[in-house]
Amino acid sequence: MRMSPLQEVLLLCAVLLCFIQPSSAQTQEVVVCSGTWNALSVSGSSEMQYKLMKEMYDGCEIVMGNLEITMMEHWRDFSFLKSIREVTGYILIAINQFSRLPLDHLRVIRGTTLYDGRFALAVLLNYQKNGRHGLQELGLPCLTEILEGGVQIIQNKFLSFAPQVNWLDIMKDQTSEIIINNNGPQKSCDEKCGDVPCWGPGDDACQILTKSVCAAQCNGRCFGQSPSECCHKECAGGCNGPLDTDCFVCSNFNNSGSCVSQCPQTLIDNKHTFKLEPNPSAKYQYGSICVAQCPTNFFVDGNSCVSTCPADKMEVEKKGVKRCEPCGGLCPKACHGTGSPDRQTVDALNIDSFINCTKIQGSLHFLVTGIKGDAYTNIPALDPEKLQVFKTVREITDILSIQSWPSDMPDLSVFSNLQIIQGRTPYRSMSSKRGYSLLVMKIPSLTSLGLSSLRRINDGGVYITGNKMLCYHNTVDWTRLLGSSGSRPQRRQKHIDVKDNRSLNRCVAGGHVCDPQCSSDGCWGPGPNQCLSCKNYSRGGTCVPQCKFLTGERREFATVRSECMPCHAECEVQEGKPTCTGPGADECAVRAS
Ligand SMILES: *[C@@H]1O[C@H](CO)[C@@H](O)[C@H](O)[C@H]1NC(C)=O
Ligand SMILES: *[C@@H]1O[C@H](CO)[C@@H](O)[C@H](O)[C@H]1NC(C)=O
Repeated sequence: MRMSPLQEVLLLCAVLLCFIQPSSAQTQEVVVCSGTWNALSVSGSSEMQYKLMKEMYDGCEIVMGNLEITMMEHWRDFSFLKSIREVTGYILIAINQFSRLPLDHLRVIRGTTLYDGRFALAVLLNYQKNGRHGLQELGLPCLTEILEGGVQIIQNKFLSFAPQVNWLDIMKDQTSEIIINNNGPQKSCDEKCGDVPCWGPGDDACQILTKSVCAAQCNGRCFGQSPSECCHKECAGGCNGPLDTDCFVCSNFNNSGSCVSQCPQTLIDNKHTFKLEPNPSAKYQYGSICVAQCPTNFFVDGNSCVSTCPADKMEVEKKGVKRCEPCGGLCPKACHGTGSPDRQTVDALNIDSFINCTKIQGSLHFLVTGIKGDAYTNIPALDPEKLQVFKTVREITDILSIQSWPSDMPDLSVFSNLQIIQGRTPYRSMSSKRGYSLLVMKIPSLTSLGLSSLRRINDGGVYITGNKMLCYHNTVDWTRLLGSSGSRPQRRQKHIDVKDNRSLNRCVAGGHVCDPQCSSDGCWGPGPNQCLSCKNYSRGGTCVPQCKFLTGERREFATVRSECMPCHAECEVQEGKPTCTGPGADECAVRAS
């Protein structure tokens, strides 16, 4: 399509109009707001919805998320949307009755999330049933780019112009769907538009074409028809000139006015040393902007600002900067325990709420109504396999109370990573008023406790009674495990009620004794990985007689805590003497060259 000189002037005017900034945005910082994720399911009155939107979008320039406007009456005033220049997700306009939406400065929809998985712009059912109100024109005169996704404009009874717009000039992905049907009668554009389509009836509503009018040499957008008038490749939506500073919108990132493919990285190559070094002028990606610092409430994750850290990282604050850092294993996760009237015991219905928990904020109770199920309240029996979820638990802030346990489980090794029971509000039984933090009672299947990581019970006592097959418990020094209350005077005597279990004599006679590698501190069960401490050395939680000081392919040294650790890979293996004294390469007896 050729443009007449008149059309070119007109285009220029239109472009200038698009660049007039609303007064609220005169500040240096770009005003960013978050969008919504409601789709068509909104809750609350339309008055409330409207107020929320007004609060969220007033003065906003970039919507980081979706712009959703649904079920609004014809008399609502949406002039607060005028400041929006960019929407990173999708735009949904559905079931409204107003005649025009004043998104007069919107230039780009990025489509990083799509409505219905397909559409960057969805305009649906905007008319009053049995009435005269409804959407007549799409107020999008500056929209020149949809970076991803298609367009769906259906069943807008009074909408007259949108169907004529050249959507292919706007959409980057030419294969995305364009579904336009059942809208109002087509009306003609202002004569000044010539053969250019329009967004509405006015002479300022002619579409700005920035792609279909370009010379073949431009493989993107242009600011004129000549081969020398192509936009920079980092531009989106069009441009005023050939440079990366002349773009209407940046395809990727806006670095203080220049469009770039990535923000200045946090690490850069030092051209002299060929090593990666911290970049003093590094910036972070914040949506489509490069910023020197992430905004408040955002976390630095690599080169980006994010509102929540990814699943394998946790939020930490260092020197006033909030960052996402790898958890190294499972990320800390605190979960609510049991013991409240509506959650008396772990059971088949609530067991999944303990997945990935590292800390139980509260207590854990195991009662027969949870383990065997409860016909009265329709709770099925608990699949014993499911108890494995507790493998991740390292801390319980209140108590652990086991009054029922699956009959085929001989130990409590699902708690093998439990290190500490805080006992903050120890259980007080009706009859004794004693506070117990660890209760294990009348479990006939139990032959050992298997709490191989438990090293401390901070407050409260232990009550382990009536477990007729239980051994090993009598090797544990419970007084030491409970500790003293430090400098505090002994407020409460710590009760150790360990009785009516299998007798020590019968345990010994049956061979249920600690592994020879355990120290005299005792053990939680059979085998060298159940010791409270080791007689000699340990490797990865298991007691061993020796480290590989003088033998083995990978030689070892012992830490001050008598743990066997491998020597550095650069150590040259020695015969007849230790290969290293510590983990570092500088601690090798002889370093391989
Ligand atoms: C880039 O951001 C600056 C503000 O830092 C803004 O004035 C300018 O219009 C933006 N440019 C583009 C192409 O989005
Ligand atoms: C549990 O953690 C694993 C590994 O981090 C993760 O893949 C999984 O989605 C998490 N599950 C739940 C329910 O949080």
